[in-house]
Amino acid sequence: MTILEVDAAQRLDSRGNPTVQVDVKTIAGTFRASVPSGASRGKHEAFELRDHEMRAYGGQGVLAAVRNIQKIIGPALVDGGFDPRYQQAEIDACMCRLDGTPNKSRLGANAILGVSMACARAGAVASDVPLYEFLRREAGEIGPYVMPVPFFNVLNGGRHSGNTMAFQEIMVAPTGAQTFEEGARMGSEIYHALREIVTEYYGAPATAIGDEGGFAPPIKQPEEALDLLTAAVEHCGLTGRVKFAIDPASSQFFKDGVYDLGFKCAEPDIRTPDQMMQMYRDLVEKYPVSILEDPFAEDDWDSWARFNASCEIELVGDDLLATNPCRVRMAHQKKACNAMVLKMNQIGTVTEAIETARLGKSLGWSVFVSHRSGETIDDFIADLTVALGAGHMKSGAPCRGERVAKYNRLMDIEAELRGSWKSWVYAGERFRFPAEIAVI
Ligand code: PGA
Ligand code: ZN
Repeated sequence: MTILEVDAAQRLDSRGNPTVQVDVKTIAGTFRASVPSGASRGKHEAFELRDHEMRAYGGQGVLAAVRNIQKIIGPALVDGGFDPRYQQAEIDACMCRLDGTPNKSRLGANAILGVSMACARAGAVASDVPLYEFLRREAGEIGPYVMPVPFFNVLNGGRHSGNTMAFQEIMVAPTGAQTFEEGARMGSEIYHALREIVTEYYGAPATAIGDEGGFAPPIKQPEEALDLLTAAVEHCGLTGRVKFAIDPASSQFFKDGVYDLGFKCAEPDIRTPDQMMQMYRDLVEKYPVSILEDPFAEDDWDSWARFNASCEIELVGDDLLATNPCRVRMAHQKKACNAMVLKMNQIGTVTEAIETARLGKSLGWSVFVSHRSGETIDDFIADLTVALGAGHMKSGAPCRGERVAKYNRLMDIEAELRGSWKSWVYAGERFRFPAEIAVI
């Protein structure tokens, strides 16, 4: 079964910016994928091709990427006679060859990834299996299916909102749930309790939401955010059954060797790396924080390594690693972190994303699958998370269509697994290393 045609179009993402939509056609049907886009992008990520034609979309158009799919990638895949059932890796390698650059800067990672994802969907349907099953085979995963713990980003700051909070994401994770579905319910209940608490403290206008669906009240310090979250969890009677996670996305406020927590305020609030480390230790001691993501900037290796030496929680590299195997190896060698974020568009193909995840696992790291702040209703990462047995994922708040699309897909997958002969488990407290969980 070969690819008959590849088409693409420019469509809008959740921020109202243009993005790439791809349709791959085979005799089994037409398979669509849409590409996400980050706001706090790391400088080591694969290249996102934008038109920079200022008369349209403020230069954000992706018509060049669309044309690259229509004129270069599509014809090459059709001529190549690839079978998406068995040749995902070959299809992805072919696109990398066509591009010919180390960071996909000729054709655009946004062009290449859209085609890669749509081909995987075509391969899954033609193989008569769900997408998570297809990707699981690609990843060579065996053992029980693992439903991930969702990390809901319920308070937005940084580049994702207009408030004064420097830290980009404050998340809550229902580790004490028994199933994903129960976890989704807990997340939603906490979210709604948080709305009431934010209203009470800051007034109704403060319940406006940021790019990932979380609230963005006029707070500055991380303690204020974690206190609000603690109150919401208590209100729901869920104390002890949830964990918190923080993604400061600190590359965004790192300059000249120091961090500026006031980067969105009139006055700077400068912290040295040592002061940042102390702040993180205090937060971890005071609150049930189980993940710190990008607490240090993407090239502040020294701080990463010094903090990791005594870090007992999950220390995740996002901008630091950019889902790039070279960066992962470098981080391993420098002992900089103990986990990786997995974002397909940071590397640009499904195959390379899976390879990077496998590399991380082989180093004893955990893998945290992630959406981007600019999203679409494409729910591919839900299947990818289950396929990799990654144990945890983040897709923003339990609010906004493009965020809940992924959570809803995960509930569908869980329902499907529940009705099947397959053994499966909710990662729960063991979200970092779910392979160690005994099968229920
Ligand atoms: P981004 O943020 O998608 O805007 O890059 C997400 C993150 O930092 O995890
Ligand atoms: Zn991040």
